[in-house]
Amino acid sequence: MVLSKKEDADIAEVLFSAESIRSRVTELGALISTDFSDGQPLTVVGVATGAFIFLADLVRAIDVPMEVDVIRAESYGQGTESSGQVRVSSNMKVQVEGRHVLLVEDILDTGRTLAALVGHMVVKGANSVSVCVLLDKEERRIIPLVLPPSGKQYTGFQCPDQFVVGYGLDFDEKYRSLSYVGVLRSELYSS
Ligand code: XMP
Ligand code: MG
Repeated sequence: MVLSKKEDADIAEVLFSAESIRSRVTELGALISTDFSDGQPLTVVGVATGAFIFLADLVRAIDVPMEVDVIRAESYGQGTESSGQVRVSSNMKVQVEGRHVLLVEDILDTGRTLAALVGHMVVKGANSVSVCVLLDKEERRIIPLVLPPSGKQYTGFQCPDQFVVGYGLDFDEKYRSLSYVGVLRSELYSS
């Protein structure tokens, strides 16, 4: 196991260690396994790219037969923060009609991405839509997360309003492979 990496030097503070993430993922997997034990088909859909490590760990902690896929969503006019429109830029391969869907996302921030993806799953005919996020920056919410009836929300950790990287989360596509979540040194992005 890699204990230190070159990218560690750019991290100001570790917020969630690999060990704390591992034990929280185990807890979430147990909760989800209980909640989805009704025998109805489950499809777990990770939001690319940021959720890829969380998705990989979470599905191995869930003991329910499932299909796994990924979806990609992008904001229009990224960087402007103004339009806030989100579109599905790469769709799933599997059909979710009549199935329980569990969306897996790295971080819930303004709420726009998950609002759009929950709506997308409803349109695709999902039987229920639930959401599991590793991190929740609650104070940043603009669009409240509203789930259809019987949808459940799972959260790994509440996250302070700081830019975080690692465990799938990136800055400029870097730092995704760190096994913990940390705060990036501000001088690296506020030039
Ligand atoms: P919304 O605002 O739609 O955003 O809830 C969710 C997406 O915003 C990105 N995001 C971050 N990515 N560190 C990151 O690496 C952060 O601190 C952060 N905050 C938001 C992320 O892509 C997420 O899917
Ligand atoms: Mg993301």
